[in-house]
Amino acid sequence: MSFYALLPAAGRGARFGALKQYVPLAGRPMLWHAVRAVCMPPIESVFVVLARGDREFARHQWSDLGARVEPLYCGGETRRDSVYNALVATMGLMEADDWVLVHDAARPCLPPSDLEKLLHEIGDDAVGGILALPIAETVKKVAEGKVHATEDRAQLWLAQTPQMFRAGLLLRALERAQRAPTDEASAVEQLGLKPRVVTGSRENLKVTWPEDLAIAESMLKRRA
Ligand code: CTP
Ligand code: MG
Repeated sequence: MSFYALLPAAGRGARFGALKQYVPLAGRPMLWHAVRAVCMPPIESVFVVLARGDREFARHQWSDLGARVEPLYCGGETRRDSVYNALVATMGLMEADDWVLVHDAARPCLPPSDLEKLLHEIGDDAVGGILALPIAETVKKVAEGKVHATEDRAQLWLAQTPQMFRAGLLLRALERAQRAPTDEASAVEQLGLKPRVVTGSRENLKVTWPEDLAIAESMLKRRA
């Protein structure tokens, strides 16, 4: 049984206002940090899923991350399509029982300890699981600028990445997923399965809006 990482990096960064995967962060493109975070044993290869017309990846230096990094120019319209296309492209290489860790290019600050905890706690779980955080704030359901309801925070968690599933199961889940799922777990849930939840950390933030970048940068610099 082998471990692979798959980084969807074919988004357009609409909310960020630029191709955020290549935005400079602590002297490197953001994607470099996200790749580095999963470039460690037992992960054998890191597949980076790029938009078909991507011209940026080749302009940057990846060799210092070792021989594990492999770009795949098969990104799709949605995150689901990008991950699905990459699984189809790599299925000859992976066995159905191998583990795939899907990690956002937009999460450059994943601490090594979170990754180790995920690998350890998922172990040989039959379904797989995700890093996630319990919600700190009170959560409102809002429509047309007004609060319609207050959710029960005790049961709400924020899903992070990596999300770790067996290659065969994930392929099947994404093939069948009804709505375009915004993470892998929701596709697996649609099969009636229950992914395990591993408590992550707030350091593993997702860069979505431009103001997230300064927080990510200070986190990476503090660690260096
Ligand atoms: N992603 C992808 N293919 C898509 C859409 C998203 O590979 N068609 C990737 C993004 O590059 C990112 C991750 O999925 O690494 C999480 O997506 P998100 O943070 O939403 O990034 P974008 O889709 O680029 O941003 P936005 O939704 O604001 O356009
Ligand atoms: Mg998106």
